[in-house]
Amino acid sequence: MKTITVRTSSPYDIIIERGSLDICGKFISSTLKSKKTVIITDDIVNNLYAQRLVKSLADYDIQADVFVFPNGEHSKNLNTLSDIYDFLCEKNITRSDFLIALGGGVVGDITGFAAASFLRGIDFVQIPTTLLAQIDSSVGGKTAVDIKGGKNLVGAFKQPALVICDSDVLESLPQTELSCGMAEAIKYGMIRDGNLFELIENHNISDISDVMDELVYTCIDIKRDVVEHDEFDTGERMILNFGHTLGHAIEGWHNYTNYTHGMGVSAGMCIITEKLCSQELSDRLKKCVEKYNLPTNTDAPMNELLPFCSKDKKREFQNINYIICPEIGRAEICKVSVAEFEKLMEG
Ligand code: GLY
Repeated sequence: MKTITVRTSSPYDIIIERGSLDICGKFISSTLKSKKTVIITDDIVNNLYAQRLVKSLADYDIQADVFVFPNGEHSKNLNTLSDIYDFLCEKNITRSDFLIALGGGVVGDITGFAAASFLRGIDFVQIPTTLLAQIDSSVGGKTAVDIKGGKNLVGAFKQPALVICDSDVLESLPQTELSCGMAEAIKYGMIRDGNLFELIENHNISDISDVMDELVYTCIDIKRDVVEHDEFDTGERMILNFGHTLGHAIEGWHNYTNYTHGMGVSAGMCIITEKLCSQELSDRLKKCVEKYNLPTNTDAPMNELLPFCSKDKKREFQNINYIICPEIGRAEICKVSVAEFEKLMEG
């Protein structure tokens, strides 16, 4: 078993252990006192794992009710959130009880925001079941729901009390989900760790599971380091957005349907690297993402993407912050005016 402690304003452990889903009760009962919880999950993960989690909690006398919503980004909204609040009231959840997010990024984000806001804040545990959620969204305390105006526009910083990652559950992931997580793993290599990038480029979508434990640990540890330095995303944490300014725009252009976050990040990283860095680096990055069935470009015309970029949360006043990696393992934050960004991207 490996444990990473995240030393944020409210510190917590991340447990990385194969088979940990069936012994979650042990880890949770040694972190939280309450014997009552609500597990929040989606219909797909509910069928796969919820009963195993309920049993493992019962082994430690923790009583759990399960709230299930339909899988997908379209559920991450204020209506689902309101249904969650009603369910928590029905089950008499108090401030000393806690929530468990069992699922991918959507489940983690909405459960985290429910925990941040219900009764002005209760504890929650993250049990991420996708690669993307294990290495990115379950760590660092960003929680949110989507509104009509855009993705993740209503949210809060709320660190979990505990994160439990079981790499065994990644084996049931559809290949598109694995690819999606690999885009974020490639991002970590690009921004911080040449050895990680090499590990990824020396494998492919069929054999990356051979080194999954090492990959998950290394990515989480990079995120830990970045988040510890800038918990509230006012500086260094922005490097985690490498590929995301264009990536979110491409996802938005596709209406967030039939186009995953990972595909957007992959195309976003490749486009910005091709435009602003060396040919050699750009070719190496493209070759790497292709090994994971990820795109190197987009069909969306740049002039149609730019309006999405200027709505991005990474915008400040009339400026946009974007990230480049001039070499593998090193990221730079660049601040330019929206007009200058448009010129760079159209060039
Ligand atoms: N997913 C980017 C961050 O947590 O800052």
